[in-house]
Order: sequence, then C-alpha cells, then structure tokens
Amino acid sequence: MRGGSQPFLMGCNDGHTYVVKFRNNPQHVRILANEMLTSHLAMLIGLPVPGRAFVEVSPNLISGNPLLKFEVAAREEQCAAGLQFGSRFPGAPSHTLVVDFLPDRLLRRVSNLASIFVGAYVLDKWTCNCDGRQVIFHRDAEQSRAEYSATLIDHGFCFNDGEWNFPDSPIRSLYPRRLVYESVRGLQSFEPYLSRIENLEAAELEEGLRDVPPEWCGDDPQQLPRLVERLYSRRRRVRQLIVDAKNSSLKPFPNWH
Ligand SMILES: Nc1ncnc2c1ncn2[C@@H]1O[C@H](COP(=O)(O)OP(=O)(O)OP(=O)(O)O)[C@@H](O)[C@H]1O
Ligand SMILES: [Mg+2]
Repeated sequence: MRGGSQPFLMGCNDGHTYVVKFRNNPQHVRILANEMLTSHLAMLIGLPVPGRAFVEVSPNLISGNPLLKFEVAAREEQCAAGLQFGSRFPGAPSHTLVVDFLPDRLLRRVSNLASIFVGAYVLDKWTCNCDGRQVIFHRDAEQSRAEYSATLIDHGFCFNDGEWNFPDSPIRSLYPRRLVYESVRGLQSFEPYLSRIENLEAAELEEGLRDVPPEWCGDDPQQLPRLVERLYSRRRRVRQLIVDAKNSSLKPFPNWH
C-alpha cells in the first residue's frame, strides 16, 4: 500500500483482508500502539473505524515471500515476523471500491459526512494527531450509484508518533477539504463527541491498555499507562483546543461567527 509506514494488504486466516503495519516499519514501532489505542478511543465515542486485529506473521511467510520487505533510503529491510497491527479492509477487495479522496461533488453525498468529520476533529485534538485527518471512502464496486461510506484511518501519528507527548497546535489534524466543516456553527456542533470524551471514566480508557503488546511500545513500555493518564487529564481541555483552532489564522470553520 502507499504510506510512510509501507503497510501491506494481506489475506488472513479469519477470512478477512487487512492493511498490515509491521513492527519494524520505517516510521516507528509505536505507530502500532497508536493505531490500536486510538481505535479503542474512537469506538468509545462512537466513531467509525475499521475492525482491528493482531496479525501473526510466521517466519516462513517472510522467508518465502521476497515482496515482504521495506525500502529505506537505498537499502531494503525484511519485514519482521511476529505480531503486527491489522486494519480490516471494508469487504472483499475484489468487490469493494476504496478511495482516499473524493471530488467535492461526491464528498457532499457521503452519508453522515458532517458528523464523522467533526467527531474526528474532536478525537484528533484530544489525541494530538500530528498528521492531517485521513479517511477512506468505500462502496460496493458493482453499484456505481451507491453512496460512499467514510471510515477513519491512519492514527499512527496520534500522540506525536513515537514521542508520546502532546505538542498542541491549532493548525494540526485538519482535513484538506474544508467543506466537511461547513456545518460547524459553534462548540455545540462538536456534540455529542465532545461531551462523550469529557465524561469518560478512567476505567474505560484503561481497557485500551490491554490491547497493546509491550513490544509495540519501544524501549520503555512503562510509558503506556502514563500516556493513558495524560489522555484522561486532557479530556476537559479539548473544548479550549477547538476554540484555539477556530481563532487561528487558518480559519477552519467558515460558518462559526
Ligand atoms: N482499513 C483499510 N481499508 C482499506 N484501505 C486502507 C485501510 N487502512 C489503510 N488503507 C489504505 O492504505 C493506505 C496507507 O494507510 P495509512 O495511511 O494508514 O498508512 P501510513 O503509512 O500511516 O500513511 P502516512 O504516510 O500517511 O503516514 C491509505 O492511504 C489507504 O489507501
Ligand atoms: Mg496515511
């Protein structure tokens, strides 16, 4: 697949197909932890994310498949065997059309467009997603008149990649097509997601810890519970982060006066 982490599309023995990010990807081992934890957070507040999975890749598959390697600068590196992160492809690849971008005319027709993007914005401010917002749009490949559905992907740079700090900035985490924010009139437009985050219990966040293997956390896995504590204490700052973005020079919300 495209992307800085050089993920692979793999058929798995649960019958589904996954976009798999490997532990020794060219970005950072922690992007696997970031994907797993943020997917848990997105589900907690009711946002659409792909099914996620632990994908066990055997040494035999790696040694028997010369394509399973990364290109880093001028050299190649074999993908590691073992436990990797899988983001489920939304259907059978032969019958499902998936695109990263839609022209505005089709974008306006995506079901639940405004809700998904304002919800994603709240999630991204909370987790300090240092990447732009990314989604996939998908529909049945044979039904050209069917509506596209949107699903949130790529949470590798939440918590600032492998840094696990929160360098908040009003210009981060926006989607490049601003029409997705046209419905925003004020803080109330970020509901119900904003209140859901503010009212989360610590135990609900801690449940996400169980899904993150220590080997996805880099040199210091002990930082993971600390990361979750910081998320808990940041819950009530998200409101102000959105106001800061509204007042920034980028003016992302054209209808919020
Ligand atoms: N669950 C999924 N179903 C279908 N396609 C997906 C899925 N997840 C990712 N993709 C596709 O794979 C591409 C790469 O995924 P992703 O953006 O997560 O990787 P990345 O390496 O983190 O990218 P970046 O360079 O933005 O950091 C996406 O642009 C998208 O087209
Ligand atoms: Mg990406």
